[in-house]
Amino acid sequence: MTDTQTFSIASIPGDGIGGEVVAAGLRVLDTVAKLSDGDIAFDVTEYPWSSAYYLEHGTYIPEGGLEDLRKHDAIYFGAVGSADVPDHTSLWGLRLAITQPFDQWANIRPVTFLPGVESPLRKADDTDLDWIVVRENSEGEYAGMGGRNLSGRGPGNEVALQTSLHTEKGTERIIRFAFDLARTRAVKKVSSVTKSNAQQYGMVLWDEVFARVAADYPDVETESVLVDAMSAKFVLHPEQLSVVVASNLHADILSDLGSALAGSLGLAASANLNPEKRFPSMFEPVHGSAPDIAGLGVSNPIGAISSAALMLDDFGLHQEADEVRRAIENVTAAGILPRDLGGESNTIEMTEAIVAQLEALHAEAAVPEPSH
Ligand code: NAI
Ligand code: MG
Repeated sequence: MTDTQTFSIASIPGDGIGGEVVAAGLRVLDTVAKLSDGDIAFDVTEYPWSSAYYLEHGTYIPEGGLEDLRKHDAIYFGAVGSADVPDHTSLWGLRLAITQPFDQWANIRPVTFLPGVESPLRKADDTDLDWIVVRENSEGEYAGMGGRNLSGRGPGNEVALQTSLHTEKGTERIIRFAFDLARTRAVKKVSSVTKSNAQQYGMVLWDEVFARVAADYPDVETESVLVDAMSAKFVLHPEQLSVVVASNLHADILSDLGSALAGSLGLAASANLNPEKRFPSMFEPVHGSAPDIAGLGVSNPIGAISSAALMLDDFGLHQEADEVRRAIENVTAAGILPRDLGGESNTIEMTEAIVAQLEALHAEAAVPEPSH
């Protein structure tokens, strides 16, 4: 037996369905560890930071919390958002309070079409579709710059300024990241998304950086598409997409569109990466806390489990990550589906079906070649 490779994971279930989908992903990671026969171990520490925690303590992340988080190899995040706290308070208090200081500047969001899952796109029935949205995750429209003022002039007179920040460095690193990712894929193409006809400063800088970086990747096909046209293209010609790179806000919106086209928001996975590995990266489903179904035990765990697979990739455990993805495909192909995809399985039933598939795949792989 080889030495055990131990990976330390900080789990932050957060609010609403965050707890149940994170539990589902950790159950799958447990299975991966068990099937490795002692090669791999995950050491999970749970942090109880949520909106309930905020209401009790006045803060989402306690003093010293980020220093604790930093010690882990990765962060596994559920969702944050509650009716009792304004959404901008919870998002800036917990999620953005991690992604920004940890410089998790690249957010990758694969759009995956699973067998057995009905897509609202007719094209999905007979065309192989899969693409990845690469989201600039550290600046742009979510730079948090601006302010509110003049409320002293009386009701109806307040003004607000919300400024986008586009730096040449920040733009270049995300665009290079997209090109490097495209080189690892069957279709080597990067589509850049802006709104540079209307936003003549930041988005034009983006277009110029894109053209300059593209020259270093002559083997990768490129296109520049305005965000409104790109949203139409997602629906009408998704087969032309491979890697789609866009600003913080544009990519946020486009990735929800992508996951809805694939069948449900509950399917979509995401990784917030600090590619230099100066800080741990954070893995989370794209969806939010889903207060409308929280506590019912019916949430779709596939987005969270696929995010755990992206974490395995980040750990260099590519074979294990592929096995998790194959287990998910086998389960949906067999018609075992959660309610948001028209099926009847609850969160635990979906998770156990995926675990059983993982065990079956493993047993198959372990069958020795017949000897002659
Ligand atoms: P949401 O993603 O929570 O829900 C949108 C719709 O999709 C709901 O009908 C929900 O039931 C359904 N849905 C989402 N995930 C599902 C799953 N795994 N299985 C089955 N159905 C699923 O988005 P919404 O409603 O806009 O936001 C709710 C709260 O979540 C808000 O407080 C918002 O700020 C927060 N939020 C947090 C995010 C995060 O922590 N990363 C991301 C998006 C929203
Ligand atoms: Mg979003």
